[in-house]
Amino acid sequence: MGMRRLLRDNQPLLPPGETITTSSFCRRAYSIQVIPDEPTSLQALRTGINGRAAIMVTDHTVAAICGERIAAWLSGHGARLDIITIAPGERSKSLETACHIMDQLARSQFGRRDILIAVGGGVVMDTAGWVASSYMRGIPYINVPTTLLAQVDASIGGKVAVDHAMAKNLIGAFYEPQAVVSCVSYLSTLDPRHVRAGLAEAIKTAVIASPELFDYVELHLSSILALEPECLRRLVHGASVIKCRLVERDPYEADLGRALNFGHAIGHAIETATGYGSVLHGEAVSVGMAVEVAIAVARGLLNPATADRVMGILAAADLPVAVQDLRRVPSAEEVVVGLKKVRQIRDGSLRFVLPTELGSVLIADDVTEEEIHTALRQPTREWSRSALLR
Ligand SMILES: NC(=O)c1ccc[n+]([C@@H]2O[C@H](COP(=O)([O-])OP(=O)(O)OC[C@H]3O[C@@H](n4cnc5c(N)ncnc54)[C@H](O)[C@@H]3O)[C@@H](O)[C@H]2O)c1
Ligand SMILES: [Zn+2]
Repeated sequence: MGMRRLLRDNQPLLPPGETITTSSFCRRAYSIQVIPDEPTSLQALRTGINGRAAIMVTDHTVAAICGERIAAWLSGHGARLDIITIAPGERSKSLETACHIMDQLARSQFGRRDILIAVGGGVVMDTAGWVASSYMRGIPYINVPTTLLAQVDASIGGKVAVDHAMAKNLIGAFYEPQAVVSCVSYLSTLDPRHVRAGLAEAIKTAVIASPELFDYVELHLSSILALEPECLRRLVHGASVIKCRLVERDPYEADLGRALNFGHAIGHAIETATGYGSVLHGEAVSVGMAVEVAIAVARGLLNPATADRVMGILAAADLPVAVQDLRRVPSAEEVVVGLKKVRQIRDGSLRFVLPTELGSVLIADDVTEEEIHTALRQPTREWSRSALLR
């Protein structure tokens, strides 16, 4: 009759003045599929959309490479789908772009039961994910990562954000996707610099939590860099499993000293110091890892032979291991100023993730400016080259 009975609460009323405690939070499980070929991944995406109207968010480059093809296939298979494209690159990870996407959503017929599909690299995942977290108080989204970095890292875990001039990822949320469809065949068009930057995050995961994955990368490095599909599939799958396990332990980063932030204290400072864009996230993290490895060795926490392996793999992947290797070289002072900004955001203290062996780290909040300066001055490039030759 169009009328619904409200559920009756049989609990006695609390005396007025008593504090009311409520908890209604629930985390939804979601699947991550690592798929070798496009046809299977399109089917998986169609299943994820499940008959809902969809809007794809992608960047211009990805739209031309595979986004339009994905959209055409989905439309040809009965999906109602629109596309919103943004400019490629870190500068798009901004409030301005997020507002542009929201404007487009508002002008469309998009409703809360429809679904957003983020197709692209970490920039698209983070920006579209953040829009999804706040538009209509939260709409579902599926991640289709097309860079190695997004497949091994950015598409998983529900950390979504846009940057602010003050700092990276300043405006963000924790908001999980409904599914992740990682198709490694999309990586075949990725340029080598972005392959290496993505590999940096996979190496990070291996160093902090998986000697097995580290061995795998060491052994198959040239095949990974040559984008050999089976190697990529194993790499993406291995890194995804580890990232999931680590995030499950602390999904909302209650613990500010997260192992997953290995390389990121210095990395974020470098990105802040160089203005987002000229240095890729993975490159900044690579230098950050090298600096933290140097600090760990200087403190006697990490044995030099293991440090050699970490520096050796970064160098062999042709990743930057010193600020001098970066496209835009920040001064040590600029990095320290960047660190102060990062510290300000992170609860006034700065945690460094210092590896003690492969698969194990120690979180330090007492690293001094002097130690950072020494590590930044360290001839890590020569060190890693000599590690390579050994
Ligand atoms: N949310 C997280 O947990 C998390 C984790 C790691 C990194 N991130 C964020 O991810 C961002 C970096 O992501 P990214 O490195 O993927 O950068 P990106 O999204 O800018 O992509 C890199 C470039 O590759 C192009 N591209 C994407 N897919 C391609 C393909 N298949 N073939 C050819 N070109 C392609 C893009 O157009 C872009 O120009 C940073 O903002 C970083 O902070 C987020
Ligand atoms: Zn990162």
